[in-house]
Amino acid sequence: MHRIYYFSGTGNSYFLAKEFAKNFKDAVLISIAHLDRGEDVILDADITGIFFPVYCGGVPSIVHKFLKRIVLPEEGQNGRFLYAICTSSGVPGAALPVVEDVLAERSIDVKACFHIRMPSNYYPLAGAMPEKQQNQIFQRAKRALRIAAVMVKKRKKTHPLRIFPIDTFVKFIAGRAIATLAGSDKGFKLNDKCNGCELCARICPASNISLDEAGHPSWHHHCEQCMACLQWCPADAIEYGKINPARKKYHHPLVTAQELAKPAEE
Ligand SMILES: Cc1cc2nc3c(=O)[nH]c(=O)nc-3n(C[C@H](O)[C@H](O)[C@H](O)COP(=O)(O)O)c2cc1C
Ligand code: SF4
Ligand code: SF4
Repeated sequence: MHRIYYFSGTGNSYFLAKEFAKNFKDAVLISIAHLDRGEDVILDADITGIFFPVYCGGVPSIVHKFLKRIVLPEEGQNGRFLYAICTSSGVPGAALPVVEDVLAERSIDVKACFHIRMPSNYYPLAGAMPEKQQNQIFQRAKRALRIAAVMVKKRKKTHPLRIFPIDTFVKFIAGRAIATLAGSDKGFKLNDKCNGCELCARICPASNISLDEAGHPSWHHHCEQCMACLQWCPADAIEYGKINPARKKYHHPLVTAQELAKPAEE
């Protein structure tokens, strides 16, 4: 059995997880956002993968909490292969060392770590890059993913580069920056284009959005800042701070919102 856990706001990490899974006949995909947060995650599959985006040079808090819930079965790790693949727009910072360190605290050994560059989804900094540039990144990512798949199949070990004390410093800064994201949803604003479709609430991985009777969202300050609500809104009804609403939105072009969202209630 090969379990692949993923967290993804705008589809980059999910897309790679899905493509990666095709290399293994017994791989199953599991959404971290849809797991029961009170339950342990038992590391009892022969191979376990974790796909996630880098936030602020570190690990999104939902992924950090997930890592802390991973436990070994009674007999220990016993040769089980655990790997992590992070996606970023080019600056992975200390994300992979954080994964290794959080798990090492409980004697869990991450055997292989990979970073794959994807287009940025961080809307407050910039809009979607031109399609041609995105496609170049996708082509490179495809090659990197193929190499990672071969390495995981062969159970090759690889660890992220660490330069002491720089990695310790980056880890510290990343942790501080990620802690500020919960309240960053104060920047979201709703314009009059909202049609009450409820997608933003269903796609939010943090259950941070409630809807009023008209189906209009409010944000509750336990945000991951994953950008899913803003980037996937089909009516372009969500704006951020003083950013020109004409700024181009981004989500992975081959992923649909339905693949990431919770199913609509009957
Ligand atoms: C809150 C936030 C912080 C980010 N921080 C970084 C970063 O430190 N370095 C980087 O290269 N990319 C950063 N990014 C970009 C994402 O890591 C990248 O676009 C990722 O592939 C998005 O994955 P997803 O589509 O699966 O959510 C950040 C994105 C967000 C939303
Ligand atoms: S996804 Fe957009 S249009 Fe749909 S309810 Fe949310 S804000 Fe309104
Ligand atoms: S409120 Fe929006 S940005 Fe924050 S976690 Fe939910 S979907 Fe992501």
